[in-house]
Amino acid sequence: MGEDLEKVLVTEEEIKARLVELGARIDADYAGRDLLIVGVLKGAVMVMADLARVLHTSVSMDWMAVSSYGAGTTSSGVVRILKDLENDIKDRDVLIVEDVIDSGLTLSWLVGNLRSRGPKSVEVCTMIRKPLAFDVDLDVKYIGFDLPNEFIVGYGLDYAEKYRNLPFIGTLAPHVYEK
Ligand code: IMP
Ligand code: MG
Repeated sequence: MGEDLEKVLVTEEEIKARLVELGARIDADYAGRDLLIVGVLKGAVMVMADLARVLHTSVSMDWMAVSSYGAGTTSSGVVRILKDLENDIKDRDVLIVEDVIDSGLTLSWLVGNLRSRGPKSVEVCTMIRKPLAFDVDLDVKYIGFDLPNEFIVGYGLDYAEKYRNLPFIGTLAPHVYEK
């Protein structure tokens, strides 16, 4: 995959170290509570797996898959549930785990949807936040890294379903898009 990449923005070591910091905050915030972490498929697979393993709190894990309709690569905020939670979240503490927040439209829809199910709390943890997300009224409690508005791949993030298994986050060389 090396020749497809332009530059590395966040290294594997930086991701690991940041997750330890976020995990410590989550452990402290949810001490003595019964937390359900919800990964948004497929991008959040890596961050869910690594975050879950640095937590000392015992958590339950569940998954959702959503698709957002939009023209080309832009999100419209119109979302369809492809796979719903298996857990009833009424009166539960829920933490949504995301790979990236770009426009924030998908996530703000998801937060609203989960809130309507009567949970005790809903918070968000994302590995990456991009600057467009500031335009949406969305309170993101745990953020790995703020990155500029560039298309990124790796650590769960794909381009045409590829590059998800890179252990770091980077940008693609222009020849990949031009193919
Ligand atoms: P939203 O614009 O915040 O609604 O982002 C919706 C989805 O677009 C994310 O969950 C990702 O699956 C995808 N996405 C946004 N930015 C990137 C990127 O830079 N690389 C790969 N996927 C992205
Ligand atoms: Mg995602």
